[in-house]
Amino acid sequence: MTTIEKDRTTNAPDTGAKANAPAANPEVVTKAITRLIEVPSAGAPGGSITVALITLDNGKDHTRPSTFGPLGLASLDAAITTAIDARPDAIAVTGKPFVFVVGADLSQIGSIADRAVAEEITAFGQRVFRRLGTSDIPTFAFVNGAAMGGGLELALHCRYRTLASNAAAIAFPEVFLGILPGWGGTQLLPRIAGPDNAVTVIVENALNQNRMMKPKDALRLGVVDIVLDAADYLEQSLAWLAGVLDGSITVTRNEFSDAGDDEWTAALERGKMVADMRTHGHARSPYRALELIELSRTSDLDAGLLAEGTALTDLIMSQEFRAGVYAFNLVQKRSRKPAGAPDPSLARRVSKVGVIGAGLMASQLALLFARQLHVPVVITDVDQARLDKGLASVQREIEKLKGKGRINSDEVNRLTALVSGSLDYAAFADADFVVEAVFEKLAVKKQVFGELEKYVREDCVLATNTSSLLVSGMARELRHPERVVGFHFFNPVAVMPLLEIVRAEQTDDASLATAFALAKPLKKGPILVKDETGFAFNRLLLRFMGEILASIDEGTPAEVADGALEPLGLPMSPLMLVQLTGPSVGLHVAETLHESFGDRFPVSENLRRIVDAGHRTLLSWDDQGRQILDPEIAALLVQGDRPSTAEQVRERALGALAEEARLILDEGVVADAADLDLAVITGGGWPFWLGGITPYLDREGVSERAVGRRFAPAGVATLPA
Ligand SMILES: NC(=O)c1ccc[n+]([C@@H]2O[C@H](COP(=O)([O-])OP(=O)(O)OC[C@H]3O[C@@H](n4cnc5c(N)ncnc54)[C@H](O)[C@@H]3O)[C@@H](O)[C@H]2O)c1
Repeated sequence: MTTIEKDRTTNAPDTGAKANAPAANPEVVTKAITRLIEVPSAGAPGGSITVALITLDNGKDHTRPSTFGPLGLASLDAAITTAIDARPDAIAVTGKPFVFVVGADLSQIGSIADRAVAEEITAFGQRVFRRLGTSDIPTFAFVNGAAMGGGLELALHCRYRTLASNAAAIAFPEVFLGILPGWGGTQLLPRIAGPDNAVTVIVENALNQNRMMKPKDALRLGVVDIVLDAADYLEQSLAWLAGVLDGSITVTRNEFSDAGDDEWTAALERGKMVADMRTHGHARSPYRALELIELSRTSDLDAGLLAEGTALTDLIMSQEFRAGVYAFNLVQKRSRKPAGAPDPSLARRVSKVGVIGAGLMASQLALLFARQLHVPVVITDVDQARLDKGLASVQREIEKLKGKGRINSDEVNRLTALVSGSLDYAAFADADFVVEAVFEKLAVKKQVFGELEKYVREDCVLATNTSSLLVSGMARELRHPERVVGFHFFNPVAVMPLLEIVRAEQTDDASLATAFALAKPLKKGPILVKDETGFAFNRLLLRFMGEILASIDEGTPAEVADGALEPLGLPMSPLMLVQLTGPSVGLHVAETLHESFGDRFPVSENLRRIVDAGHRTLLSWDDQGRQILDPEIAALLVQGDRPSTAEQVRERALGALAEEARLILDEGVVADAADLDLAVITGGGWPFWLGGITPYLDREGVSERAVGRRFAPAGVATLPA
């Protein structure tokens, strides 16, 4: 089918909305251009129909996707007017290559200081998009690429939707960031796709680390009407449009207007369960989104949109959203361009990797390297039995990946062939990068590196996965100490994105650059840390954990101390975390930090008792499903007579956290508070709505109470003063 361009109109943006644009972040304007196109249609008089095709394009390549700010919305508004005035047979909206629209411009929305401005932009988006929903001319969204947030809402306002088979990133990320879809999403999606699918897309996917839909998911969930091949997507979409108009194509959708009470109740209860599980009731956005989804059942669209607009405005003016945008930028931008990393061009090529130790961490590292770098990996241990155990664990993980459908049989064979074991260090002679994950003992690590140096090339980087020893201490006596770096992963390696890269006393730029260059293909978010005991993340973690355990030792009931941080909505309680990392690992790291820093890091006598008694689990559940201290553990505790309340424990733990963060910064362990925030998000799964940790400490006033000043001025990751 051919299409003929008949007319071309450029719509100058209506600068009437300019006042809305916050001055700090000039808008990259997405322009909307309307073209009138003749589309062959056998069923139409004259053999063709006229389609007004609106194309959205911010004039940048796909690495800077189109977004909507006030000027972009004004341009779309003008383009819709042009389209309607031309009285075409249909109006269609599409995007630039690979991108439909990825929603509102976050940097703009996240810097709004005035509620009236938030209200205005919310209402403006709804008003413009709604024109596509109320027009008597049939409207179509040709979703040719990424469609997030407001982009997806724009598509939902249209009467019909096609989606390109190669479109990536279809999602409503709002709830993940602390807001909600407020340009119609919460009211339209339940009407179009039903309550259960709306809960999945708006709440569940968003809270599941912002999961994106693939085209087949979007189709299954009723978000689009059809997926069309990417090769000639526009032509096919126009032909489909012509078919819909002449009646040769019937669009069948489930009818949700009569969804029964049971369906609604089940969907909303499921949404609440997901929100409770992910946020422990401490983020407002998923709950407000659920209220609005519920409202869409009974309210007319105008009233629903009004309520949605109010909710979005409230959330735009919330601390959580400011923290959410800040956290999002850390993960999206800062972790890709780590502060202090040397010139990437200094990095050396890595085409073979060695892993020393075949224990818990080493076997995970071997698989990660093989899977992500596609290079041969040789692993070793002290004897064949331990080596075989490590290799078997790698194999088990490979089979698990296959079982979950994450890799196919070819990949199973490839990975199996890439990971080999050897007890002979000569196997590392041609390695470019060797990482050790042997016992956490300086003498053992020194001995391993000393021996290794006899075999490897002079430029082979030697990395250590130590969590608490000084890297310089392992390097100092080597012939080439400049090639030693710290490469600190977190358990489970496949899941935790944080990677602390340590520059030791003598580390050179080329070795450090090589370590940083590996982070990207390994899909890790690196931060550069100075060589000090515990680096950054464990110092923060152990510091607040130390206060929780100390308060138990003093006489605070374990449940009270363990629940004290509940209002933060952390992914797990402190004791759960001790259990997960293993009480003996926790004790060992606490002892190392105590040795270096003294009483700031107390070693809990009760933790020692638990480890000495050989316990690995600390918690159990009572008959009401509440998490409690295991009675056997409780019987071991020796407690003092100075109990604290939950508030006292919280203030004390957070105060300690603020103090430690301040010290870490003053000692130059990391470049900026942002790195600490990034570390707790990627290393500890701390929620976005806290903004990592320092914005939370600032906005709760803890920073000022504990160390006399904030980490960042008001307005950075928090609402302006
Ligand atoms: N477990 C964690 O959660 C975690 C997290 C981050 C970092 N780390 C660090 O990773 C390292 C390993 O920890 P792990 O938990 O995997 O320990 P692990 O006890 O599971 O494994 C250590 C392995 O090293 C082997 N080994 C000991 N001496 C050796 C030598 N001279 N040559 C070769 N192999 C030797 C042991 O036989 C054992 O298989 C430690 O430095 C630890 O601090 C651990």
